[in-house]
Amino acid sequence: MNRLRIAEYHFGNFPNTNLSGFNLLIKRVLSTPVLELVASPSVPLPSTKNEKPFMRWEIQEDQIEVQTPAKLNLYLEVLGKRDDGFHELETIMTAIDLYDLIRIRKLSRDESSEQIRLSCKWITVKRFDKSTSEKRGTVLGTDEPFGDLPTDKSNLVYRAAQIFFSETGIDARVDIELLKLIPSVAGLGGASGNAAGTLMAINRLFGSPVGKQRIFDLTAELGSDVPFFVNGGTAICRGRGEKTTQLRSFAKLHFVVIRPYFGLSTKSVFSKLELPNDVEQLNGQSIQHFGENWKSSLFNRLQEPAIFAAPEIAKIIETLNQSGCIASQMTGSGSSCFGVCESPEQAKTIANQLRSQRIGFVYSCQNLPDFSVPF
Ligand code: C5P
Repeated sequence: MNRLRIAEYHFGNFPNTNLSGFNLLIKRVLSTPVLELVASPSVPLPSTKNEKPFMRWEIQEDQIEVQTPAKLNLYLEVLGKRDDGFHELETIMTAIDLYDLIRIRKLSRDESSEQIRLSCKWITVKRFDKSTSEKRGTVLGTDEPFGDLPTDKSNLVYRAAQIFFSETGIDARVDIELLKLIPSVAGLGGASGNAAGTLMAINRLFGSPVGKQRIFDLTAELGSDVPFFVNGGTAICRGRGEKTTQLRSFAKLHFVVIRPYFGLSTKSVFSKLELPNDVEQLNGQSIQHFGENWKSSLFNRLQEPAIFAAPEIAKIIETLNQSGCIASQMTGSGSSCFGVCESPEQAKTIANQLRSQRIGFVYSCQNLPDFSVPF
């Protein structure tokens, strides 16, 4: 699979994938109509009648599937460096409808000697093939397109399951399949969403022994961005990123996201940051009106060090601006950048134009509501 071909892939609804092995999974990721929620009647549904849900669930007796979203940072200021080596942040994150899929299945002792068995695959979807009207999904090898996916405790999904078992003392075995559509080392929070989704889903699969507040606390041990994915929606996140406050009724925004052909490590971007003296905290007023004034409020302090490491990022932001986006910037520590569009139609049109420019993997998406499924 060469890079240029992958660039033509994007995420969308492709109901009739026909691929042995992952057929069912891909179908579920891709065929869920926009307005349909997949969940058992025992799970109270989020009040998202006219919107895509933040996370999607399907629960059976011995198995649970969850689709976990990505995020964008609409604002990111670094307030200073802390004694523990982390940076004090003030960031506004919004969840977007680009999903990975995680399936967790209870195993008997005969089926597995390990407590946690994890398998991972990149999946990507071929664009609608007009000539045949055939809609196909494509499963890529683990080394494509965004690098290896570890299946041991260096994967946050594995660590989330480990934390659940050590927290509860439950002696059980699980098989976890992780199907990834969200690009990695991209500033999109894919792995963080996977970690939060796994912890919440495994808890649910074993009868919810851990309460929501404790789940929230445990997610902070998994990574700075992970707590955001417990509630999703749009939130202001402080501290390392783990102190979240929901920004309810936030504007519905439409985006074009580009993940360049390279990723950036969070650690290395932070290490290149030189903080100016004029760092300012958001005040209550500016947070309150961020949803209305987002155009002039978009900001990312990490963009400059990321551009220093990878000047192509400046070019991608310029391309997004020139293609008609209202405003654009990098998300998180990069490497992905996003442009804000007037409408879903404009986002799709711009995404299609940009795909032909071969500057990266291009997605059109929108932000998502809060996750209101109680524990
Ligand atoms: O918490 P997480 O594992 O996502 O952080 C990855 C790296 O990013 C940290 O090791 C640290 O170098 C940097 N980081 C930081 N300040 C934060 C979040 C992350 O310096 N608030």
